[in-house]
Amino acid sequence: MEMENRWIHGKLKDSIGYDRYLHSVRVMETCIDLAKHHGYPIERVAIAGLLHDCGRLLDKKKILKLIKDFDIILDNMVKNNEELIHALLGEELARREYGIEDEEILNAIRYHTTGREDMGSIEKIVYIADVIEPNRNFPGVEDIRNMAYKDIDKSILHSMESTIRFLIDKGSLIHLDTIKGRNQLLKLKR
Ligand SMILES: [Fe+2]
Ligand SMILES: [Fe+2]
Repeated sequence: MEMENRWIHGKLKDSIGYDRYLHSVRVMETCIDLAKHHGYPIERVAIAGLLHDCGRLLDKKKILKLIKDFDIILDNMVKNNEELIHALLGEELARREYGIEDEEILNAIRYHTTGREDMGSIEKIVYIADVIEPNRNFPGVEDIRNMAYKDIDKSILHSMESTIRFLIDKGSLIHLDTIKGRNQLLKLKR
């Protein structure tokens, strides 16, 4: 396990760069904290957190090549949107290059940017850990951080809503998975 871990860390650092790698480690640590707190499987959550951005390759040409090689279908929404592409590519890289077979871990990587309806516990933890890792300092982050330990669904709802607001203000498209996920959590809360 130790050997394997060192290999994963090395490969990740080389492919996404040192800063992104450090972010990934902070997300992993936040995932572990949240998993301990909520009683979720720590090992699986940790690896999902560590690999969540493995598709954010430094080599941009390689991204396009791999999308082709892996037959990843990019719809109009995803095309030219690096934020969305890195999550789809990340899932495939985790499967093919990091040897991850656990579908819940793969889904956590695939949906970490948009969220979606019916998120599993590993997906939820990775989604929110990416938002609240210690270096995040947007206005209101402290509230979402506290919420994530008390009521993880509520913290995801808030975070999805601020993402939606942000995208509207920027004049950007909003992925349907985010809207569906937000609507479902809102209904649950009522
Ligand atoms: Fe990401
Ligand atoms: Fe991230």
